[in-house]
Amino acid sequence: RATRSYDFKVQTTKIEKLCNTWDIVTINGMFPGPVIYAQEDDRVIVRVTNETPYNATIHWHGVRQRLSCWSDGPSYITQCPIQSGQTFTYEFTLVQQKGTLLWHAHVSWLRGTVYGAIVVYPKTGVPYPFIYPYEEHIILLGEFWLRDLVQLEQSVIASGGGPPPADAYTINGHPGPNYNCSTNDVYKIDVVPGKTYLLRLISASLNTEHFFAIANHKLTIVEADAEYTKPFTTDHVMLGPGQTLNVLVTANQPIAKYSMAMGPYMSARNVPFQTITSTAYFQYLGALPNSLSSPAPVPTFNDNLAVKTVMDGLRSLSGTPSVPKEIDQNLFITIGLNVQKCTSRNPQQNCQGLNGGVMAASMNNISFIKPNISLLEAYYRKINGYFTEDFPGAPFKFYDFVNGAPNNAPVDTNSLNGSRTYVLEYGTRVQLILQDTGTVTTENHPIHLHGFSFHVIGYGTGNYNPDTANFNLVDPPYLNTIGVPVGGWAAVRFLADNPGVWFMHCHLEIHLSWGLSVVFIVKNGQGPLQTLPHPPADLPRC
Ligand code: C2O
Repeated sequence: RATRSYDFKVQTTKIEKLCNTWDIVTINGMFPGPVIYAQEDDRVIVRVTNETPYNATIHWHGVRQRLSCWSDGPSYITQCPIQSGQTFTYEFTLVQQKGTLLWHAHVSWLRGTVYGAIVVYPKTGVPYPFIYPYEEHIILLGEFWLRDLVQLEQSVIASGGGPPPADAYTINGHPGPNYNCSTNDVYKIDVVPGKTYLLRLISASLNTEHFFAIANHKLTIVEADAEYTKPFTTDHVMLGPGQTLNVLVTANQPIAKYSMAMGPYMSARNVPFQTITSTAYFQYLGALPNSLSSPAPVPTFNDNLAVKTVMDGLRSLSGTPSVPKEIDQNLFITIGLNVQKCTSRNPQQNCQGLNGGVMAASMNNISFIKPNISLLEAYYRKINGYFTEDFPGAPFKFYDFVNGAPNNAPVDTNSLNGSRTYVLEYGTRVQLILQDTGTVTTENHPIHLHGFSFHVIGYGTGNYNPDTANFNLVDPPYLNTIGVPVGGWAAVRFLADNPGVWFMHCHLEIHLSWGLSVVFIVKNGQGPLQTLPHPPADLPRC
């Protein structure tokens, strides 16, 4: 196995975007950031030096971090931030992992510009389970703000209300010709007629989920969240922030310049969002420059069925780790937004949330508060007072939304604040039922679990009902992020065999800021290779 070493310098970089010259935070001056290339089972070492005035951390989204929880990266969960002028070296092994993943900053809203792709090839000599593509391209979907993202998070939280929409959606950092001053700020793939291309689609968006499509071309999904899937052909896909899909596209259409586009999927009510799609070109060699195709078939923003169609098509390929057939722990977790009294979460705010309250979000009515030290360190060194171990396995109050929220929304939508964790013994076979609620609005929430992939064994709309739910224990997709259907539920299973402190949260950044998260503590096992190692010497201090 090889070692791949990278040097990441977190920097402030000037770019021209949307008619402005703008300072953004980047890695090595690049936007999007550098690609991490590796092969299955390789060791990856990334030395991160922070040259900005902000706090920084990097998370390797979807890397399962076996026995390397210290390198996971979420701020105040597994590490203190890397402060200005400091360096921290992340080290991990891509144990039985190959495919496309995302890395991103995991502190404040820095990940809005600090992100890039992780491409893990199979071991030498091991073929793909599909036709070998002529070429491959990374496509990072993003959202761009003409704002300082650290300040933006602070001001949104202080307001008590919701965030402003993005100024643009971007494809590999480019808004494309639908936006002002962006006719030439557009991404393009040159394609040879007749050839097949592998597109590594990654959503690095902050607060919006997105559809993606190419005019006149079918996309065949062959991998989701860096696990092979049975080939599924569709004319569009949907990615929530953090999700990745590898798709094959064959250039089998008449020679022309085809539009490739990302558009919003917004399932929540009354949330302002950027409505302009970002376009790029899938351009055949020999195409006339102005032979632009009709628009790409991106579904309309509220097309829930278009999301379900893609989900229904995801089936793992044989060879994927098999689903635990039995479970030891079953947790029912409600997820959703709620409103707190003006004084409960942040006494300085202006209370611009619903009904003069403060927007919050919670799991099982607990709105997570990040401690101001690393939770992993507090757990490891047995430092008391920073977290509790009483995250409830079921909600206190369940706001029923059958027949459409918020019809039954109660007057009291409050949640409790706390740094509550849920402790799992090593080797526990866990089932989570994730249930969307509708106190403020129902919404598709991309829920991401650190440290594991989970088998998505079922999902549906309405309230989860154990008597009617159908589980797929044969070939469910094995993902690290699941878009829990709007006004619905999803059931996932995983084996808690990786000791550490693991974050699970909604990957819509504003929801994370509002507390839509929980932390699992997985205890050490008794056997060899079942114990979390000591912290690295250069671990940042708070
Ligand atoms: Cu990609 Cu905790 O996130």
